[in-house]
Amino acid sequence: MKKVSILGSTGSIGRNAIDVILSMPEAFSIQALTANNDVAALAEQAIRLDAKYVAIGNPELYGDLKARLAGKDIDVYCGEEGIVQAARLEADCVIAGIVGMAGLKPIIAALEQGKVVAIANKEPLVAAGALVMETMHRHNARILPIDSEHSAIFQVFDARHPEGILRVVLTASGGPFLHWTMMDMAGATPEQAVAHPNWKMGRKISVDSATMMNKGLEVIEARYLFDLPREKIDVLVHPQSVVHSMVEYIDGSVLAQMAVADMRVPISHALAWPRRMKVPGARLRFETMQNLNFMQPDIDRFPAIPLAYEALKAGQYACLAMNAANEIAVQSFLSHRIGFTQIVETVKAVLDKTSAQNLKSLEEILKLDSDTRKLTESIIASKCA
Ligand SMILES: NC(=O)c1ccc[n+]([C@@H]2O[C@H](COP(=O)([O-])OP(=O)(O)OC[C@H]3O[C@@H](n4cnc5c(N)ncnc54)[C@H](OP(=O)(O)O)[C@@H]3O)[C@@H](O)[C@H]2O)c1
Repeated sequence: MKKVSILGSTGSIGRNAIDVILSMPEAFSIQALTANNDVAALAEQAIRLDAKYVAIGNPELYGDLKARLAGKDIDVYCGEEGIVQAARLEADCVIAGIVGMAGLKPIIAALEQGKVVAIANKEPLVAAGALVMETMHRHNARILPIDSEHSAIFQVFDARHPEGILRVVLTASGGPFLHWTMMDMAGATPEQAVAHPNWKMGRKISVDSATMMNKGLEVIEARYLFDLPREKIDVLVHPQSVVHSMVEYIDGSVLAQMAVADMRVPISHALAWPRRMKVPGARLRFETMQNLNFMQPDIDRFPAIPLAYEALKAGQYACLAMNAANEIAVQSFLSHRIGFTQIVETVKAVLDKTSAQNLKSLEEILKLDSDTRKLTESIIASKCA
């Protein structure tokens, strides 16, 4: 039996992970579950899955969670430290399914224990990829990607002979606004932006998919996960979301991973690794497939992609600033403070005002993250005034 902890168990990744685990209950047991505010769902999951430990990020909800779990043999913790503690508990696999930079400290904590960490939570890899990978190497830990594109690359990437790899190609569905004009996108509502054509995901990543910032974040994520220079990472729009990414080798061979658009596939890959497990749900049927299309992304309508490449060229500080600014801008869009196209405009304005710095320690990273969020808030406030 593999002992699994799920950070962010009440979210889209967390619920899909639970689905996979419950499809093979004899193979997995749950150590820890965490959430931020959804105390009802967390308590229900903890009882149903017989978890040993739960942590709620919002400390004001500790009493509520404790009351819901009264009489159960489940340790209850709260706050950022409670979640970090959950990440440290003995486990064979820690699933990092928190959204945003809030997942950085728990990921570092799990890696410091030498654990296998299955990461969906891409923002810490974007903002602090060098530190995360260095922590993994120092503690002999292992990161397994859950993001579908990176799981795809991981499955076809010859890590023993990287000199034979010409490039990796990340595929992008193009999101709900693939064929929209700039003018139409300027008036897009949060409801339209989160209505992804192929994937059902949390609100933040759904907006990132609509701006295609998600692909920009993934380019940076791939740079750190696979130790590749940015020149070897390309993006192609593939609206059907069948090919989840590919690796092109110097001899002209291209290896691609394909599957239905269902996050349970990459989650199961990480959970069962190095083996494979049966996954519930639909499967690819080539017999009924009509077309697989690939095209260059339109970088005029989706400027987040070139912005990410520029940030990678500038260095880790710029990747961090891009991520922090994007988290604040997306929240502001979802709360109707700024328009859709202002998300990437705001990120660009923040990057223009951020000066280069050498980030080494976690403290330096958290300080720049906090300063960038304040700068972004002030730029948005001046726009709204
Ligand atoms: N969803 C997908 O299909 C998918 C695919 C690829 C990659 N990813 C990546 O996976 C991550 C999770 O995405 P998601 O779509 O699952 O997000 P989500 O549905 O919004 O779930 C986020 C989870 O994180 C918790 N959380 C939020 N803020 C927190 C904080 N400050 N401290 C501690 N916990 C916090 C939430 O708790 P509450 O429920 O209590 O708020 C929830 O459990 C993101 O980085 C995303 O980019 C997602």
